[in-house]
Amino acid sequence: MQPQWQGTFISEALPAAAGDPAAYFRREFDVAEPPRRAILRLTALGIVVAHLNGVRVGEDVLSPGWTSYRHQLDVLSYDVTDLIVPGRNALGAVVGEGWASGNLTWLNQRCNYSDRPALFAELELSYADRTEVVATDDRWRVSTGGVRDNGIYAGETFDARLEPDGWALTGFDDEQWSTASAYAWELGTLREPVAPPIRRQEELAPVEIRSTTDGRHIVDFGQVLSGWVRLSVTGPAGTTVTLRHAELLTPTGELERETNRTAEATDRYVLRGAGRETWEPQFTFHGFRYVEVDGWPGDLVADDLRAVVVHSEMTRTGWFATSSDLVTKLHDNTVWSMRGNFVGVPTDCPQRDERLGWTGDLNAFAPTGTFLYDVRGVLDSWLRDLSAEQAETGNVPWFVPDVLSNVCTPTALWSDVAVNLPWQLYQEYGDPEILRRAYASMTAFVRQVEALLDDRDLWSSGFQFGDWLDPNAPAKDPSASTTDRYLIAQAYFCRTTAQMASAAELLGKHGDAEQFGALRDRVRGAFRHEYVAPSGRLVCESVTAYALAISLGLLDPEQRSRAGERLALLVEQAGYTIQTGFAGTPLVTDALSSTGHLTAAYRLLLQEQCPSFLYPITQGATTIWERWDAVQPDGTLNSTGMTSLNHYALGAVADWLHRVVGGLQRLEPGWRRFRVAPEPGGGLTWARTAHETVHGRVGCSWSIEDGRMRLDVQVPSGTRADVVLPADPEARVVEVGPGEHCWQYDLAPVLSTAGTSTFESSLREVYNDATAWPRVSAVLEEYFPGASVETALGLFGDSPMSTLVDFMPERATDLERDVRAALAPEASA
Ligand code: BGC
Repeated sequence: MQPQWQGTFISEALPAAAGDPAAYFRREFDVAEPPRRAILRLTALGIVVAHLNGVRVGEDVLSPGWTSYRHQLDVLSYDVTDLIVPGRNALGAVVGEGWASGNLTWLNQRCNYSDRPALFAELELSYADRTEVVATDDRWRVSTGGVRDNGIYAGETFDARLEPDGWALTGFDDEQWSTASAYAWELGTLREPVAPPIRRQEELAPVEIRSTTDGRHIVDFGQVLSGWVRLSVTGPAGTTVTLRHAELLTPTGELERETNRTAEATDRYVLRGAGRETWEPQFTFHGFRYVEVDGWPGDLVADDLRAVVVHSEMTRTGWFATSSDLVTKLHDNTVWSMRGNFVGVPTDCPQRDERLGWTGDLNAFAPTGTFLYDVRGVLDSWLRDLSAEQAETGNVPWFVPDVLSNVCTPTALWSDVAVNLPWQLYQEYGDPEILRRAYASMTAFVRQVEALLDDRDLWSSGFQFGDWLDPNAPAKDPSASTTDRYLIAQAYFCRTTAQMASAAELLGKHGDAEQFGALRDRVRGAFRHEYVAPSGRLVCESVTAYALAISLGLLDPEQRSRAGERLALLVEQAGYTIQTGFAGTPLVTDALSSTGHLTAAYRLLLQEQCPSFLYPITQGATTIWERWDAVQPDGTLNSTGMTSLNHYALGAVADWLHRVVGGLQRLEPGWRRFRVAPEPGGGLTWARTAHETVHGRVGCSWSIEDGRMRLDVQVPSGTRADVVLPADPEARVVEVGPGEHCWQYDLAPVLSTAGTSTFESSLREVYNDATAWPRVSAVLEEYFPGASVETALGLFGDSPMSTLVDFMPERATDLERDVRAALAPEASA
């Protein structure tokens, strides 16, 4: 970056009020001869779009993105050599309010960084013998144009009649424009971007356009996404086309805008009336699937509209698909929610009056996110913001960048992102530099919580988000989870201190490592003393509590196995509906499968009844919802307010899909060594998983056909894999090096005959037989309508199915025949 900046920030003379138009800046300059190289360095307090001689510079959108501006503001660089002409040239830029001065958070707080849009630019012209710089200063002119009110949440209005013809070309008469004023901003904040730019990624055509009786159109793009709509329209000057965005329709087919909360999410285009006009907003983005088009002149056809998908430019690195379309869709929806929420800052959601870098959401999602995309740039940038803000206030903000300057007391799963995220990134990419950079921030957080521990070494005071959005928490208080919030805090702090001790060791800070290791042992001991009975039962018997104790390594082997049994029982008692929020969901399937309850894990995964992983998909979800029951079975929106339809946090289950269903498990940082150990179940007949690591592509694909398993494994050079052949009668584990490997073998009987339960099996065994249960339960529903399975399991779950007939002597023969047929349909056919 430039050691010495020559420009200053410039702006209009007065602060901007809400709803003010964007600022248009321009300046002409002369070039005696073509420069060897011309570089435009550009940033803004606001969102900036630059033009050189009438040509839009670069392909980035929403520049310079959002960072903790007071600490670091990104300056984008563009090679514009080809746009410079000998003689007179014109440089122009439009700056909208963006994140710098526009509304942010549910408080709709304005002017969080500046009281008006301001521009900073330096055009560096390099000649053989000298360098000239055209920089923002008082030689620039400023005015307004077609971009009227504009806001991240509100949307954008563009009046094409007000766009000055040729304002970004030479020869434009800017006599009526004002002289730009200098705007005070600390130039020490300027830096080269660490994150990749935000760009248009994809375009979607409407899948349906429905006209209403009052002349509006409801357009469905078939996918919840982040971005905007580009329109092409012909009509009389002054016609206003209004686009309102929403993620959902009401049962009567109107826009359901409640999930946007106070975000207006409305774009307006006022026609110039000069043939076909094409327009898309540049100073806002929306989270939406549906658009209501009002005021369209003439017929609206699919070719007139495109949804433009926008997010940070990241390389895709993870893929997963399986024989269950619903599970594959669950994974696809997770990918879409990641795309929708990596628009610069990794956010909670992209549609409502938040779109904030909530730490807990990212912390829960980090293992999944690092598998799906190369997130180094985006998250490195975000972590730098986090540590800068933490260094200033002593606290890890609850969301980063923190515009509310809340007093953010430390909370589990949210604040400990300061440790877990660098640790996850190190594991994925194998680069210790990540830990080195974050070390001060990690240490400060751990020390801060250490000082809060009570005399029993328990984290037992202060606010906690708990198992946020536990489906059993009271609707109005998502943090009041059924799981004791301090149990959650202690469990996560056990993980945090263990990671801290390992990080210190790895960086050669042996003194620290010893201290953090001792702290880890103390808090783990305190957890076990306070919350775990010697048998392995927990004092707080909830799915999340067991998931944490098991997955975070807080139990002895015998305790662990007992805890696994209790967990399996709890999920069974809940009918395999989901009982976990942000804290438990990332871990629950893993806790089950790793304690020998794979079948229960699959039952949980495959449940479709609300609340469950697959329920939203049965409701047509195309992204992950914030809460399991955001949309209720009757199609109406849950009235609680936490109902974003695009929240990646609960998509954290995809990590288990990759590791256990798909079988790819990293053993060493950077995937130098990994394990391939898919665990088929739930009636799935195949799964394909691939991941582009820093060493190249790792892959695992398995399929079961006619009682035979085929396993294909891809190992990139420089790595080794331990392959655990799934359901292999010989239980082979083989170590392989780089290359493509394939195994085919007859399966152990338990997997080759899906659905092993018989009429003599217990009700519980049949219930846990994912193949037979759907058929058997249909029969039981016919004979015992409305009876609760959970109650039946509690009363006589261990009795054989054959005793069922005792409950219905008058229809005993029919019942036995139908249950037997349901258990072995082929035999009875
Ligand atoms: C966000 C969450 C976040 C939470 C914490 C919400 O409004 O959308 O995902 O983590 O607040 O309170």
